[in-house]
Amino acid sequence: MCGIVGYIGPRKISDVLIRGLRSLEYRGYDSAGIAIMDKSEMYVVKEVGKVADLEALLETRPVSGTFGIGHTRWATHGGVTQVNAHPHEDLSSRLVLVHNGIIENYREIRKDLSSRREGTYKSETDTEVVAELLSSLYRGNMVEALTELQGLLKGSFALAILSRDDPDRIYCLRQGSPLVVGTTGKGETFCASDVPAILPYTQDVVYLDDGDMAELSREGMKFWNSRGEPIEKKISHIDWDVTMVDKGGYPHFMLKEINEQGAVLRNSMAKRIVDERVDLSAELPWTEEDVRGWKKLHIVACGTSYYAALTAERFLERITGFDIRVDVASEYRYRTISADRDTLAVFVSQSGETADTLAAERIVKSLGGRCLAVTNVIGSTLAREVDDILQLKAGPEIGVAATKTFMGQMAVLYLLAIYLGRLQGRVTREQERLWCRELLALPYKVESILQRQGELQEMAGLYTHARDFLFLGRGISYPIALEGALKLKEISYVHAEAYAAGEMKHGPIALLDPRVPVVVVTPRDALSEKTFSNILEAKARKAPVIAVATEGDESLDDTADRIFFVPSAAEEFSPFLTVVPLQLFAYHFARFLGCHIDQPRNLAKSVTVE
Ligand code: AGP
Repeated sequence: MCGIVGYIGPRKISDVLIRGLRSLEYRGYDSAGIAIMDKSEMYVVKEVGKVADLEALLETRPVSGTFGIGHTRWATHGGVTQVNAHPHEDLSSRLVLVHNGIIENYREIRKDLSSRREGTYKSETDTEVVAELLSSLYRGNMVEALTELQGLLKGSFALAILSRDDPDRIYCLRQGSPLVVGTTGKGETFCASDVPAILPYTQDVVYLDDGDMAELSREGMKFWNSRGEPIEKKISHIDWDVTMVDKGGYPHFMLKEINEQGAVLRNSMAKRIVDERVDLSAELPWTEEDVRGWKKLHIVACGTSYYAALTAERFLERITGFDIRVDVASEYRYRTISADRDTLAVFVSQSGETADTLAAERIVKSLGGRCLAVTNVIGSTLAREVDDILQLKAGPEIGVAATKTFMGQMAVLYLLAIYLGRLQGRVTREQERLWCRELLALPYKVESILQRQGELQEMAGLYTHARDFLFLGRGISYPIALEGALKLKEISYVHAEAYAAGEMKHGPIALLDPRVPVVVVTPRDALSEKTFSNILEAKARKAPVIAVATEGDESLDDTADRIFFVPSAAEEFSPFLTVVPLQLFAYHFARFLGCHIDQPRNLAKSVTVE
């Protein structure tokens, strides 16, 4: 996944592009570049490294112009080199473009072009081939050339293009990779892969749909569909503001977002719990008959979103009568999927752009299942393809490691569970009241944990020598152990794996020794006594034990080496509390190791390629 920006207007072009790229760096950060044009000149400046490196380069080699495009890369085709960085020109330097996505048939295209056009490609990228193909199709009308181009390309592509033959215009094309455009209405227009790059200037944007083309100029924006026919596009007002996409005084976006989780819980429940009753009718036009017609519930996701799904599964199976199946999208999509009109399929994806999750959703949709997206991005591809949407309302999450969106996903899925149970006639009014009170108390309990971050910082500092961690949990704490292990490994690069605590005897116990800390998620519940025996097993092998337990639980005092206590809650709600110390432990651990927490190596915020 990569980040694209474009701007045309009176502001200093390079400043707008660099600021935009900075806000999109979570999408890719191994190299960056910009192209700026004025009536006659085209300047391309690009370099390996982060946007800050590009900015430093521009200070030594300032360029000016009247419109421009920029790109921050997460390498797919071609290594991380200066020549592979975007923007890319066609071989005759008539046009320059930036690209997010993957062109699957670029080799065939390059072979065909080489037989017809002179010139040597500078890079190993598919993008340079796209530039050359577009140049070969251009006969004076860019929209016609782009219409023909998209019929020839296979794969996913969001493009922003500048052309010497068509000055003072930026052309955009979207197919499979997100692209939004916006204007202030004061002689300036913007395009970007995601809203944070445009938010400092306007909250009114247009999400391009697959096949859409746009022409941006000082006069405004024009749109065409994939057949080259002029169309009108709806303006969406984004209720995020620019302060949400800066660090707000925190050293990292991840720490800011961890600390926003009380607010996220309030936002995700606002207007959805009224008089201690879950009401999703404004977002889900389902009747009791609809719900009774569904016999199967599939929940499909990747990574952290999958762990949110696994956590909610235990709550859902307790409340609803569904035959429930939860799977990672990259597996689900290749299995025999027994989904049809009797199936409600929930796709959990904070970005709404994860390729495997999108592929799974398209299969279920083709089989006639009812598709619901639980997502944070209302204009995302997933949100536009499904039948129903439940927004997380978590605000933009910039840190690559998901934290507040995980909290929002659990909250939304729990609300969905209660709502479904009531429509099925399986939830009593009293039970619903109790659950709503538990949910409404969570923001305060999370914030009480956030007041004690120093304990976790101190704890993390004790184990920076470790190169392997085990995370254990039983029942509803098992997915939280999985999430805690993922958080640690993805930002510190230290190996961590999670097991259902009951699995220790079946192999993992062989790993235990004094160098392998064991993090045990053991809130007071029906299984905590069983988990206690795992702690004793670990101690018997001299492995250090870090426990996350319920305040007042003194049973661990003489066994665990370190204990972090979380407030008590009904056992189904403990995940909202036990995950927070694991997030903070991972954050401080990685910080002690000097890792680049917001942009971990090899990762991207949304995996838009398979
Ligand atoms: C989580 O910290 C990771 N960034 C990653 O596992 C992520 O959860 C996964 O790629 C799914 O992303 P999505 O929610 O946008 O689909």
